[in-house]
Amino acid sequence: MIRANDNYNKLKASYLFSDIAKRVDEYQQKNPEVQIIKLGIGDVTRALAPAVIKGFHKGVDEMASDATFRGYGPEQGYEFLRKKIAKNDFHARGADISPDEIFVSDGAKCDTGNFQELFAGDIKVAIPDPVYPAYLDTNVMAGRTGEFKDGRYKGIVYMDCLKENNFLPELPCENVDLIYLCFPNNPTGSTATKEELKVWVDYAKENKALILFDAAYESYIRDEALPKTIYEIEGASKVAVEFRSFSKTAGFTGTRCGFTIVPKDCMVFDSKGRKASLHAMWNRRHSTKFNGVSYPVQKAAEAVYSGEGKAQVKQQIAYYLNNADIIRETVESLGFDYVGGKNSPYIWVDGKDRDSWDFFDLLLTRASVVCTPGAGFGRCGRQYIRISAFNSLENVTTAMARLKEALK
Ligand code: MLT
Repeated sequence: MIRANDNYNKLKASYLFSDIAKRVDEYQQKNPEVQIIKLGIGDVTRALAPAVIKGFHKGVDEMASDATFRGYGPEQGYEFLRKKIAKNDFHARGADISPDEIFVSDGAKCDTGNFQELFAGDIKVAIPDPVYPAYLDTNVMAGRTGEFKDGRYKGIVYMDCLKENNFLPELPCENVDLIYLCFPNNPTGSTATKEELKVWVDYAKENKALILFDAAYESYIRDEALPKTIYEIEGASKVAVEFRSFSKTAGFTGTRCGFTIVPKDCMVFDSKGRKASLHAMWNRRHSTKFNGVSYPVQKAAEAVYSGEGKAQVKQQIAYYLNNADIIRETVESLGFDYVGGKNSPYIWVDGKDRDSWDFFDLLLTRASVVCTPGAGFGRCGRQYIRISAFNSLENVTTAMARLKEALK
């Protein structure tokens, strides 16, 4: 008899963003005349930058001739891309990451979800609340949790991120082995300073723990004093893995490319307490289960680091950040408290006494605007909604005018 993984029964029936899409589709079908504006899932709307398209085309053209055709590439990614990443994203920030510590992949969602496979089933996992749901759901699937009760899974150490602590997770009271952090944060848009990250690096060193650091939104950091990579913190390469994505940086949500940094001096421990190389383990996993990102996509990603590419991508980010400013001004003028939107494309709005799904429904039905209900990110999000800045300026402006009308 083929038996199912019972852990799947603990999960909610569908993934947050699938749930929202279903509700929005139903509403649209009932109201076909309405022009819905989606500020829910963080999906970019602007075309790939011209330099990126040029790189992409070049890659495709090379595939058209026997002389330059490429078959299987290195599972870890082509060196031409890994070298550019190391130089531009890490060496430029004083972080000593070498190209062979970079694993190119089809995006940060897969890597943040898959990485937990490397660890024992009975480790203690600390996860912020609210949180990007993929971290939590993949640990549920792997059987690291008990049942879901009152908005929480048994066995997970939740780190509440609330107004009172500036939406920054605090060190857990009990010992934990694996810590998920994300800055600039999804969903709250909050950021962490070097000093704040150092606290976590020190904790991980002291407790032989590991940090999984999601930096998918680093390119939205405007404040030069803020760290863009955890490896700006001394000693972090011994205790942290970092996830990056071209999705939000360069509009690759539909193109698919990201990368994960697994430093060579980052160690894990076997059941006898002996050190093992995390880099070797991830390399083994990656080369067994993944066959590399397509050549044209890696050529497109490489072009992000050209002079032209950098300037064009910077402009795209500025465009979305301008949207974020408009959203912040609107929610502020409506008297709501919020966080985020300054160094992040997300604005986390306190709905005061409103339940987040009610707030979501209200915006959908009264303004035809889609946001993301905070409850979907965890119990601490129950009175919040997340508004995303990823849309056209015209749509964001219209959506904010509708919000003002609906909520006045
Ligand atoms: C989000 O809206 O939280 C993200 O777009 C989801 C993702 O990156 O997978």
